[in-house]
Amino acid sequence: MTGESAVVQAFGLGKDYGKLRAVDAVDIEVGSGEFFGFLGPNGAGKTTMIHMLTTLVSPTRGRAEVAGHDVVAEPLAVRKNIGLVFQETTLDGELSAEENLQLAGKLYGLGRAELRERIEEVLALFELTDRRHDSVRTFSGGMRRQVDLARGILHRPTVLFLDEPTLGLDPVNRGRVWGFLERLASEEGMTLFLTTHYLEEAEPCDRVMIVDRGQAIARGTPDELKRDLGGRESIELVMSDPDPRLLAEVAQRTGAEPRRTATGVIVSVDSAEAVLPLLLPLIGERLESLSVRRPTLDDVFVAATTPGGATAGTGAPAGQ
Ligand SMILES: Nc1ncnc2c1ncn2[C@@H]1O[C@H](COP(=O)(O)OP(=O)(O)OP(=O)(O)O)[C@@H](O)[C@H]1O
Ligand SMILES: [Mg+2]
Repeated sequence: MTGESAVVQAFGLGKDYGKLRAVDAVDIEVGSGEFFGFLGPNGAGKTTMIHMLTTLVSPTRGRAEVAGHDVVAEPLAVRKNIGLVFQETTLDGELSAEENLQLAGKLYGLGRAELRERIEEVLALFELTDRRHDSVRTFSGGMRRQVDLARGILHRPTVLFLDEPTLGLDPVNRGRVWGFLERLASEEGMTLFLTTHYLEEAEPCDRVMIVDRGQAIARGTPDELKRDLGGRESIELVMSDPDPRLLAEVAQRTGAEPRRTATGVIVSVDSAEAVLPLLLPLIGERLESLSVRRPTLDDVFVAATTPGGATAGTGAPAGQ
């Protein structure tokens, strides 16, 4: 990616709170139209990072540019180009969905006709048109999140920052929010920068970065991370009578130590496809069922953020 097309760039950006290094010195480059996921456990520094990039918190070290403007020197220019959806909803519960949008539109400085048109568009996009006059207090968590998102994109920002947009939502509503985000990226060409704990959901991201205790510990496409950090595939064999002699032979043929379960064994291998033809004749009729589990983004995340969990974690390419 070239620097010119970058919409979000951070160079050694960091923040200390007293002695605590909330964010150490992180480099980021997010291209125009990219869907970027910033992942990490509680306290990793995700919100602090988003707040520095959106001019709400001043960095202790390093610098950053958003939409071509320096976050410290030109905060107003940055703010004009961004939308922000906070970790906690910041809607006014007493106002209706539409009134919340009107208020935001005035703050953004949208003209009356433009605001009216844009409100219709975002209400339709987030399927809120029928509930527009109801006060937000009466909405479910999922619907409130939809209003938050609608408000975040009302002024057509170049880049939308979202801090855990699916926090507290059930799986159905999480899926809906992600569906909306994918549409924003594909149909409106918006650059999206979001944080999440829900790793499996980060699959649609073009690129992700995993942070832990303020440090970037892995980055790449979801597939690259799964390949580099998630490691091996697990084969679970449910069988009658897995005697020690059989287990020893399984270990020998797979080069891996099988783990006993209540009903059989699990072996971790590089490629289940390569190993199964060797294993199946060995077990023969004793095999009752078989399943193969491929590494998930959750495996990657746990491997990367658990001390000693993955040696590849620190070896992942630091560049973009
Ligand atoms: N205003 C503040 N004053 C002091 N410490 C802070 C402040 N804001 C954040 N921190 C500390 O900085 C660290 C990173 O916090 P941050 O909120 O950025 O993490 P996070 O990754 O967003 O976590 P979560 O997933 O729980 O939202 C934490 O140790 C937190 O206690
Ligand atoms: Mg946070």
